[in-house]
Amino acid sequence: MPSIFTQLQKSILACLGNQQPLSLETLANSLNNIPENIILAIDDLMNAQVQIQKVAPQTYQLKIPYQGISSETLKNKLKNPHWSVYCFDSIDSTNLFLKNISVDKMPILCHSEMQTAGRGRLGRAWQSPFGTNMYFSIKWRAFRSPSQLSGLSLVIGLSLTQAIEKQLGSSSLKVKWPNDIWCDGKKVAGVLIEIAHVEASYCDLIIGIGVNVNSQACDLQQLGRPCTSLGEIYGRCINRLELLAAMIESIENDITRFLTQGLDGFLPQWSQKDALQNHQVIAVHGTTPIEGCVQGIGPQGQLILKLENKSLVYLDAGEVTLKGLAKKPNPLF
Ligand code: BTN
Repeated sequence: MPSIFTQLQKSILACLGNQQPLSLETLANSLNNIPENIILAIDDLMNAQVQIQKVAPQTYQLKIPYQGISSETLKNKLKNPHWSVYCFDSIDSTNLFLKNISVDKMPILCHSEMQTAGRGRLGRAWQSPFGTNMYFSIKWRAFRSPSQLSGLSLVIGLSLTQAIEKQLGSSSLKVKWPNDIWCDGKKVAGVLIEIAHVEASYCDLIIGIGVNVNSQACDLQQLGRPCTSLGEIYGRCINRLELLAAMIESIENDITRFLTQGLDGFLPQWSQKDALQNHQVIAVHGTTPIEGCVQGIGPQGQLILKLENKSLVYLDAGEVTLKGLAKKPNPLF
């Protein structure tokens, strides 16, 4: 897929990448081009949602530092050379790309600097602005049936959390059933696992991951739900390439471990990082809300809830909200 950006636009992004404000004259001189072309190229970048701001007359600055991720730089960072890697400036959805790709050599990794139709769980959209965060998907052939893979999304959440803390330092990151990463009640990352293809002996999984890396608090507020980013949590701008490579390595190790040992080996780590353990929550599965106290997770990764009448309910899917954070009072309780 060709880049949506021209060579001139890519060079402008490279010049502005360290977030130094640059005048039109400096850009034109360093890129050996006329100011009119630079202005047109910047206008087109801004129209494509690249966050360039005019900080003074004829002076431009990127809102967030930018270092592009290309398939060459990413492949060079990965420890294991068996990955097929696809990197884009823009794509509809990295999950969709891998669903439709007819390549048999797996694992395949697809990263994009932005998505025009990013998909979240439960049919929601995933906001994917250019160059600030991470949007990537992995296509993996698992020699298991789909029913043997329940619990994998929990493992991916744990794996991401571990990679982040190993790379950036320990923090109060938590996993929120079934597959979010949270910090102090705010969402940092989400996982969307889809099945692309099923055969008698295997199935092809698409594991889609969206991480708020360098988004700023003001932009996150517009999402209408409590969200934060790693940049906000760690108080600095995060190098996406290093972190992405660490996440891929961690995910690869953990999928392999999950496929050989199952979910059991991950349960102690889950209870250490569980954002919901012993909390009163409202779970919605289908249209029925259930209130209960979280008792942990079951052998297939189900959420265990203790109801007011002391009975236990095992939820295998759904949306869970902490009681205090629930949007509307629940008429049932
Ligand atoms: C969620 O709703 O929490 C899951 C969000 C998953 C978003 C990622 S971004 C990369 C990949 N491509 C998509 O279209 N969605 C996933």
